Amino acid sequence: MLGSLRFRLPALFLVGIVVSGVIAAAIALALFQSYAHKQLLVKLRREANGLTELYQKQAIAANDTGKHTLRFAPPQLERATGDKIFYVGADAFPGSGPTGLRQLPQDAVDWRSGKTRTFEFRPPGFKRTYLAVLQPLRLAPGSAPFGALVVATPKTEIASGLRRLLERLGLALIGGILAAAVLGWYLSRRITRPVLALSAATDEISRGHYDVDVPEVRGGGEIGHLAQRFREMAARLGDAEQQERNFLMSVSHELRTPLTAIRGHVDALREGIAADPAVRAASLDMIASETTRLERLVGDVLDLAKLEAHRFTLLSEEVDMTRLCEQAYAAFGEEARRRDIDYEKRFDASPTIVTDGDRVLQIISNLLSNAFRWTPNGGKVELELGASNGRVSVAVDDNGPGVPAAERERIFRPFWSRDDSGTGLGLAIAHELAAALGGRIELESEPGEGSRFELVLPAARRE
Ligand SMILES: Nc1ncnc2c1ncn2[C@@H]1O[C@H](COP(=O)(O)OP(=O)(O)O)[C@@H](O)[C@H]1O
Ligand SMILES: [Mg+2]
Repeated sequence: MLGSLRFRLPALFLVGIVVSGVIAAAIALALFQSYAHKQLLVKLRREANGLTELYQKQAIAANDTGKHTLRFAPPQLERATGDKIFYVGADAFPGSGPTGLRQLPQDAVDWRSGKTRTFEFRPPGFKRTYLAVLQPLRLAPGSAPFGALVVATPKTEIASGLRRLLERLGLALIGGILAAAVLGWYLSRRITRPVLALSAATDEISRGHYDVDVPEVRGGGEIGHLAQRFREMAARLGDAEQQERNFLMSVSHELRTPLTAIRGHVDALREGIAADPAVRAASLDMIASETTRLERLVGDVLDLAKLEAHRFTLLSEEVDMTRLCEQAYAAFGEEARRRDIDYEKRFDASPTIVTDGDRVLQIISNLLSNAFRWTPNGGKVELELGASNGRVSVAVDDNGPGVPAAERERIFRPFWSRDDSGTGLGLAIAHELAAALGGRIELESEPGEGSRFELVLPAARRE
């Protein structure tokens, strides 16, 4: 569950949101803190400035007149500003008691330097730390200060502002996380649904069920591509398995037929049923021809298996294609005469190529033998040799029944034969051989008119 994509994607999404939220909040807090600190100092300085001026004026007046007149009450000031106001300095400040100002011990802060200062301190008798601004008091500009005013505000002021901000940020973060969770959950479901379907389909396939249903993925993309290819792969695996089964069944069937015939004749001979020498000779002939058929069949199956497994050695020799075609052509001359078939050859070129001559001859003979088998007596068969564009082509034309469109691909499969006496291996072998030689077999056919099987080979074989 924890390792599943459906969990991990939204989790990743959430972690991303939380991390970025926390970082953003931390930055916002730090910025806020320094801003609040600065603002507080600005306010304190302004207040300190104003107050110092007031107190200074009074101090000067008191100094001049010898009597003290206070026109404002510090406790009210403190209440109004929320800040604490202290006095530190010489007792000479007239009427320090009646001013109502809290007095700090002389050595609590350094006020004699006469400079405005900002600092943090804990006034005696107070529990909290204060942020303070000290402003010196003078009787005349440029003279030494007789004391100083300290305007202080508790540092917790900043902290409480921070807490409020933190609360809001926390709320925003929780809202963001909720929204991200919903979105992440929805998105990851959209992404993982086809992936999960694919993974379920692979399970089916590994159990040998190739007929799986891979759902369509909307919008394409990588997963759509994967699903499409997966569908094709499953179909191909299914086909391959079907073909393998067919192949085995066909091979055993094909082997059994001649074996049954041979067995019957041998039994008859052994039991002495056929006493007549002529019948015995006929039996032996049957056995011999069935054995030949078996031999050829086994040889073909072996050839095909080797070709399909790519365990087939091919020669590389200079082959005079004209001579080769003459040889293939001549082999059927006798049959053509006997069956009154119009048998012709047309050699438009005399190429020599590097290939395996025997195998090429095997392909051409195969095509010719098919043409003769399917062409009716009195029909027409033609062998053509041509060369163009770095390719050599040998075509066999006939005016037999042709191949229906639906069968054009099937006839190249092993054991597919329209007639009972054939094995259906001829074209399969020819097809594989042509591919092994770097070429192919092309078929043009008009059902009812005839067929044209064309072997196309490269003039120079690539290794
Ligand atoms: N020249 C042709 N004209 C019509 N059909 C053909 C021709 N050559 C091959 N075929 C079709 O292709 C099938 C497979 O041919 P092949 O592989 O040589 O096996 P086989 O000759 O043993 O039947 C044949 O059974 C036939 O239906
Ligand atoms: Mg054949």
